[in-house]
Amino acid sequence: MKEIKGGQDMLEFIRSRRSTRAFAESPVDQDLTEMVLEAGRYAPSGGNSQTSHFLVIRDRQILDKLALLVREAFADMEITEGMYPSMANSIRLSKGGKYVFHYNAPVLILAANRKDYVNNLADISCALENMMLMANALDLGSCWINQLKWLNEDQRLLCLERELGLRDGERVYGALALGWPSSGAPLREPLPRKGNEVTWIG
Ligand SMILES: Cc1cc2nc3c(=O)[nH]c(=O)nc-3n(C[C@H](O)[C@H](O)[C@H](O)COP(=O)(O)O)c2cc1C
Repeated sequence: MKEIKGGQDMLEFIRSRRSTRAFAESPVDQDLTEMVLEAGRYAPSGGNSQTSHFLVIRDRQILDKLALLVREAFADMEITEGMYPSMANSIRLSKGGKYVFHYNAPVLILAANRKDYVNNLADISCALENMMLMANALDLGSCWINQLKWLNEDQRLLCLERELGLRDGERVYGALALGWPSSGAPLREPLPRKGNEVTWIG
């Protein structure tokens, strides 16, 4: 990425962050992964709570096990009217037996926080956006992964997450798939904004 000097460069950089959903198998170097995590850790938090907890999964067997448990959990669910379309899609694909929620990325960062903390989702959201921007700066691909949040009370997943280091009272509120894009470089074409309205007052 080119150097960011001023506001316009920053805006262009933010606009160039896009989701990656196809990853190369190659691992991500430790120092780059640490930079992404540091960007997440330096996100703001409500009341400076700093209670986010990041679990970095790079073990293929564990990633496969997570994908299996997620697939099985969704396969047991039914699509209902008015359901969030992405969730309905996860259920549909899981019933077909082919669903891999993390796109086989070589790194999956679970963003957990305290279940009883009012800003749990807000704090990890700031962290995830910071991490996605840092990944973009490093030419890495990334994508927000939401399925483990939807299933964050599933007992089999909770059991595995606890084995991985999730603490009592914590739940997963989001995740980040991270890796080298299979296309070689992340997509950087800005996605036009039709929504996200602005109302000016004064
Ligand atoms: C709260 C949230 C949840 C998301 N969940 C998923 C997800 O589970 N899987 C996925 O592939 N993308 C997910 N995304 C990525 C969005 O689909 C993506 O940001 C959106 O389509 C715009 O595309 P862009 O990121 O390339 O600009 C999520 C994004 C956000 C902010």
